[in-house]
Amino acid sequence: MTTPHVGILGLGVYLPARKLTNFDLEKMVETSDEWIRTRTGIVERRIADAKEKTSDLATKAAARALKDAVISAQKIDLIIVATISPDSNFPSMACKVQKALGASDATAFDVSAACSGFLYALTTAKQYIRTGMVKNALVIAAERISGFIDWKDRSTCVLFGDGAGACVLGKVRSGGIIADFTRSFGKYGHLMEVVAQEVRSPFDPQRTMPAQLPRVVMRGQELFKVAVNSMAEAVEEVLKKAKMKKSEVDCVVPHQANDRIISAVARKLGIPKEKIFVNIDKYGNMSAASIAVAFYEAVKTKRIKKGSKVVLVAFGAGLVSAANVVKW
Ligand code: ACO
Repeated sequence: MTTPHVGILGLGVYLPARKLTNFDLEKMVETSDEWIRTRTGIVERRIADAKEKTSDLATKAAARALKDAVISAQKIDLIIVATISPDSNFPSMACKVQKALGASDATAFDVSAACSGFLYALTTAKQYIRTGMVKNALVIAAERISGFIDWKDRSTCVLFGDGAGACVLGKVRSGGIIADFTRSFGKYGHLMEVVAQEVRSPFDPQRTMPAQLPRVVMRGQELFKVAVNSMAEAVEEVLKKAKMKKSEVDCVVPHQANDRIISAVARKLGIPKEKIFVNIDKYGNMSAASIAVAFYEAVKTKRIKKGSKVVLVAFGAGLVSAANVVKW
């Protein structure tokens, strides 16, 4: 029996309507449009409203991907949601999406791999389909990072945004997702964390308890260097697996954390920047959702066309990196 090819059958995104521009941020913290643009490439980002939960963003993107794939929710037998900003610890976002869509025959679970989450979920779903365990999978990346940003910390609050992207995966005759690479570097976990400052309990001095809400803290410059090296490594490794040369790549869709990181990766790999898809200006860093949304936009704007060879590459808190080669 030959192993089936697994490909993307449909794509969808959902982006909250509210835009937060660099000029809006100038009124909130000591920063400037000029600093944010030149250091990161970000111009504006989307912020979910108070009633929009991560599961709502995920469900809306998923419903659009199902429509694009012309497939009903009842035909989906696996749902994976990549997120680091779930509504709560449980139920999982995937189970909430299952309920909202009425995908009653699906197995549903979440994946936590920060900005690499979409690619970890894609690779996991692909293996389920290849082994014949399921036929059709819904892979979603959804983040509501605005909920645990310290909006007084200018070193992090200017970087992130909310959003969601989704795709339907199934068997295809040829091409599809032709190579995968994942790697984790737990030793660098301290470079970016969600922490809650702790104080001693007045009733039990041995015990500590959170003094404030959890928030993102980051060692930006160290992270920058590791990000460039790990993304370049991931591209080299996945191309080896796909038996492809860099010159054969038509489009690279990288995680959108910082335009300077993307440029440095392109230079290190010797891939022209014109081949790299960038939309960080509109959305900032949406963690797992960044690549899902960028991939969607690259397809819809015809930067990725039928037959294009595409490299998806990510790194994120953990640290975790991943890459896939997709023949569209
Ligand atoms: N506005 C104005 N000034 C600022 C701001 C701001 N928003 N933030 C920091 N500064 C100041 C600093 O205080 C510092 O001032 P000083 O020189 O007086 O001390 C100065 O700007 C330079 O700060 P750096 O941190 O050195 O700036 P850098 O050029 O490194 O840019 C940045 C910071 C954008 C965070 C960069 O390091 C970066 O992108 N790192 C990688 C971040 C990343 O990828 N994170 C996410 C990955 S994981 C995930 O996505 C889940």
